[in-house]
Amino acid sequence: MTATFQMDGKEITVEDGKTLLDAAREHGINIPTICFHEATTANALCRICVVEVEGMRVLQPACIVQAANNMKVQTRSEKVIRARKTILEMLASTMDLSEASDIQAMLTEYQADVNRFPDAERREVPVKDDNPMYVRDYSKCLLCWRCVQVCAEDAQYTYAINFEGRGYETRIGTFFDRPIPETTCVLCGQCVGVCPTGALKPKREFLLEQGMSPQEISVLNTGRKKRRT
Ligand code: SF4
Ligand code: FES
Repeated sequence: MTATFQMDGKEITVEDGKTLLDAAREHGINIPTICFHEATTANALCRICVVEVEGMRVLQPACIVQAANNMKVQTRSEKVIRARKTILEMLASTMDLSEASDIQAMLTEYQADVNRFPDAERREVPVKDDNPMYVRDYSKCLLCWRCVQVCAEDAQYTYAINFEGRGYETRIGTFFDRPIPETTCVLCGQCVGVCPTGALKPKREFLLEQGMSPQEISVLNTGRKKRRT
């Protein structure tokens, strides 16, 4: 079974069950994504992928909405562009995007005004450095949920981290805020691999950025100086 519909005026046919994002990618139409990752279950949390679907009152997240016969979809209408721009402006006002290169490129593409919400309260928390494998800098976290999902059913089944709090207080954390070595974490690094913003970073990279030399890091890791070659 297939679904045939229009996207940006072009007739498209895809297999049943494909999302609008799948369809766009199959046909060379660019829809931006932030929370979506091929390896994790899509939850439509960031809404940067919204598109306009004729007959639907609100914009639809392309990463979860399935293509259906006779749909008429606009991926870059004025309404869509304005929504994406506002999302980017809200992100820029509330978190540190300095290491989120894909989002920085979107800020430029959508001509987002990063100072549009000067009174927004920024997420500013100290870096958590509590294990030998990675550091957590939640000032850079946009709550995309990718790390939580790979830690759970999407990959590792260890459930070391999850959402905590509600509304503005929502954040990623461990049970009772325990340090990572006191959780079920197996230091697999999958969360670091899927983080889009640099909020999760390999410890070695973090220490190099802090000015430590590879030799000093090696001593820290093994307790021994590296033998000269
Ligand atoms: S730490 Fe990274 S992967 Fe986890 S929710 Fe925040 S931005 Fe997403
Ligand atoms: S990429 Fe679709 S909602 Fe985030």
